[in-house]
Amino acid sequence: MIGTANGVRVSITGLGCHVPERVVTNDELSTMMDTSDEWIRERTGIRERRIAAPEEALSDLCLPAARQALEEAGIGAEQIDLIIVATVTPDMAFPSTGAILADQLGAENAAAYDLSAGCTGFMYAVAQGYGMLAGGLAQKALVVGGDVLSKILDWSDRGTAVLFGDGAGAIVLERVADGGFLGFELGADGSGGPQLYLPGGGSRSPATEESVAERLHFVKMNGREVFKFATRVLVSSAESVLAECGLTIEDVDVYVPHQANVRIIEHARQRLGIPEEKTVIDVDRYGNTSSGSIPLALADAKADGRLEKGKLVLMTGMGAGLTWGSGLIEWTDGGMG
Ligand SMILES: CC(C)(COP(=O)(O)OP(=O)(O)OC[C@H]1O[C@@H](n2cnc3c(N)ncnc32)[C@H](O)[C@@H]1OP(=O)(O)O)[C@@H](O)C(=O)NCCC(=O)NCCS
Repeated sequence: MIGTANGVRVSITGLGCHVPERVVTNDELSTMMDTSDEWIRERTGIRERRIAAPEEALSDLCLPAARQALEEAGIGAEQIDLIIVATVTPDMAFPSTGAILADQLGAENAAAYDLSAGCTGFMYAVAQGYGMLAGGLAQKALVVGGDVLSKILDWSDRGTAVLFGDGAGAIVLERVADGGFLGFELGADGSGGPQLYLPGGGSRSPATEESVAERLHFVKMNGREVFKFATRVLVSSAESVLAECGLTIEDVDVYVPHQANVRIIEHARQRLGIPEEKTVIDVDRYGNTSSGSIPLALADAKADGRLEKGKLVLMTGMGAGLTWGSGLIEWTDGGMG
């Protein structure tokens, strides 16, 4: 799917994020499994990640992030008429974390649901929020991306356990007078599904003694194949959305790629020809937070002053599905009220 914003201006008017308190360093991981700080840093660029407490669930991370985003947008929860939570680690299968969050916020006028597109979930949810606003179905949307992957990792599998972390970010989408989203490109290749998946717990392999014994309820990944896929689509998706919007890589001021691995980001950045200083990287501090990754990186870029009004920001995510998605936005500094 690819398209431009078609004249309807919608932008991010509030941004918030939240990560668990507990920092887990590579050295701490190497006391739990056969790995080392040196291996993890060299292969991934990750130094540490945040890990949720046993009682902490996704909505506990989404709620503070959402409150921050609403406060920054200067609107009350009752004004929100759409909530989308992008995640693969909802509090439970149902009700949706979107509905749980709406209740916690007091967003009683909102339609609320979850969206599953792996680590690309946030980009899918932003595009969908854009579409709902541009189509006139909603006026003010809260889009949250977050995951608590530590709860579904196989801590006996060093090939996956060291890569991920927990975190969430939230944005408010509103109509604006100028700037805002220019276009999106989203895609999926289901034939690559078995490269990164969690087979247990659904209707194909429900929770049984056998499926639990076979550890089907944990993330499984073919790291090398996902690496190849990621480097390919980060480049092709970014190039497609730029071309669709009639822009070039030179027009991009801030590049916010999915934070999976520094080597993947570096590969894409060089192939695209984006200078290092325009690229946002925080995977060293958070690991791969799945749907939380792009909003957390946006919050980082905002905190260090990079997201000024008028700047062109390119975001690209990729992940399970296999899926990918890019969005281009001309940054704005507020809604139309
Ligand atoms: C997972 C990843 C870091 C592995 O890096 P790599 O350079 O491909 O490493 P390999 O898989 O070739 O493994 C090299 C060796 O390191 C070992 N190894 C794997 N994980 C290890 C760890 N945490 N610590 C130490 N050694 C490890 C492997 O067992 C292998 O040993 P062997 O050669 O004796 O078999 C890399 O493939 C990757 O980042 N893939 C993409 C993953 C991703 O981003 N997923 C999410 C997308 S949203």
